Amino acid sequence: MMMHPHHHPLRDLCLCFVIATTLILIRAPTMRCVDDPSYLNCSSTIQCGDLQNVSYPFWGLNRASYCGLSEFELTCQDNTTGLITITNQPYRVLRIDSTSQTMTVARNDYWNTICPSNLINATEEITLPFSYTTDTAIKNLTLYYGCPETSSQIAPLIAKSQFNCTLNGTNVMGYFETKVREITTYMTVDLMAVSSYLATCNTSVILVVNQSAVQGIESTTNLTNATVVSAIDEGFGLQWTAGNKCAGCLGSGGQCGQNTSSGDFVCYCRDKSYSSTCSGT
Ligand SMILES: *[C@@H]1O[C@H](CO)[C@@H](O)[C@H](O)[C@H]1NC(C)=O
Ligand SMILES: *[C@@H]1O[C@H](CO)[C@@H](O)[C@H](O)[C@H]1NC(C)=O
Ligand SMILES: *[C@@H]1O[C@H](CO)[C@@H](O)[C@H](O)[C@H]1NC(C)=O
Ligand SMILES: *[C@@H]1O[C@H](CO)[C@@H](O)[C@H](O)[C@H]1NC(C)=O
Ligand SMILES: *[C@@H]1O[C@H](CO)[C@@H](O)[C@H](O)[C@H]1NC(C)=O
Ligand SMILES: *[C@@H]1O[C@H](CO)[C@@H](O)[C@H](O)[C@H]1NC(C)=O
Ligand SMILES: *[C@@H]1O[C@H](CO)[C@@H](O)[C@H](O)[C@H]1NC(C)=O
Ligand SMILES: *[C@@H]1O[C@H](CO)[C@@H](O)[C@H](O)[C@H]1NC(C)=O
Ligand SMILES: *[C@@H]1O[C@H](CO)[C@@H](O)[C@H](O)[C@H]1NC(C)=O
Ligand SMILES: *[C@@H]1O[C@H](CO)[C@@H](O)[C@H](O)[C@H]1NC(C)=O
Ligand SMILES: *[C@@H]1O[C@H](CO)[C@@H](O)[C@H](O)[C@H]1NC(C)=O
Repeated sequence: MMMHPHHHPLRDLCLCFVIATTLILIRAPTMRCVDDPSYLNCSSTIQCGDLQNVSYPFWGLNRASYCGLSEFELTCQDNTTGLITITNQPYRVLRIDSTSQTMTVARNDYWNTICPSNLINATEEITLPFSYTTDTAIKNLTLYYGCPETSSQIAPLIAKSQFNCTLNGTNVMGYFETKVREITTYMTVDLMAVSSYLATCNTSVILVVNQSAVQGIESTTNLTNATVVSAIDEGFGLQWTAGNKCAGCLGSGGQCGQNTSSGDFVCYCRDKSYSSTCSGT
């Protein structure tokens, strides 16, 4: 009875177990291990200080160049400060909002100072894919350096915007000025005198800042250098017009990127890369 050859319960169970295990062993390797390396690399996000979970179109650090657009390389200074280089000028990246495709950046050389070691104008004409956000004031704040001694007529008018810098070991006198302050705080005759005086300074640098920071400088009665430093440190907005193909790729379970040789958009998926969405084309 117990040795019935065809209906042994234990043997049926055993057979079942063997078949199931075999199936799992056969299927397991094909279900794991095959994720596309580009897909995996571009699934990682950038963490650097206040910048968290940064992804396409940004790349750099743990994200390979094919995970983003060439202009969007991030580096991380001291493991805390995200930097991006735009027309050869390094900027601190203070915030990134990928939903509105905007970021807030500030000149790295002017961080916490109005006396950088080299006096340079950044390119005002920002180039695509970047453009200024509407709350950015492009030409409203100018810093003058190496200004001569003031006359007694002008001195009281601009005393509050005076500062000193040690540039290359030499002490130089400087002034900051904003467009509207020039127009609203002086009488016409004074404005002309101030303008022609500032024109005699050795050099000037035009800084791009947030409109509200310019207004802050203009409305502060207690104007100090610190007001200007914090206005510059607040940064200004840039928006980008790129990567509108990305949403469809992400929605299909892919990671966005760029073919570094052709420049075309690429959607990296678990199995391979596609030109727009996973399992698409
Ligand atoms: C970053 O992503 C992780 C994991 O998805 C999440 O827990 C965290 O809240 C995110 N951080 C930010 C600042 O969005
Ligand atoms: C992605 O690729 C870059 C460049 O090859 C490499 O430096 C980085 O470590 C990779 N990141 C991950 C998360 O694999
Ligand atoms: C950078 O910061 C992260 C998070 O705080 C930390 O895990 C990592 O060790 C730091 N790396 C360096 C090189 O300091
Ligand atoms: C300081 O000196 C260097 C080298 O001579 C020069 O390149 C730089 O422009 C100077 N900086 C200023 C602010 O004059
Ligand atoms: C910055 O630009 C202004 C206006 O074009 C110019 O007068 C000034 O000389 C420039 N400064 C430097 C350091 O190139
Ligand atoms: C302007 O620059 C020249 C040449 O570098 C220098 O000799 C002069 O002292 C500077 N003027 C002022 C007011 O700093
Ligand atoms: C800058 O230096 C001059 C001359 O040394 C001095 O009279 C002036 O008060 C200083 N200005 C500031 C803002 O420290
Ligand atoms: C910046 O300057 C322009 C004129 O050049 C002016 O119309 C605008 O109101 C100024 N913005 C601020 C915030 O002062
Ligand atoms: C403005 O200046 C006065 C005197 O110099 C000072 O007591 C006051 O705290 C200043 N206010 C601000 C907002 O800095
Ligand atoms: C400009 O300043 C305003 C007021 O502080 C702020 O709400 C806005 O986000 C700033 N713009 C950028 C691009 O950071
Ligand atoms: C990138 O473009 C080149 C040339 O068009 C093509 O041969 C290659 O397969 C593309 N790579 C990816 C990952 O799409």
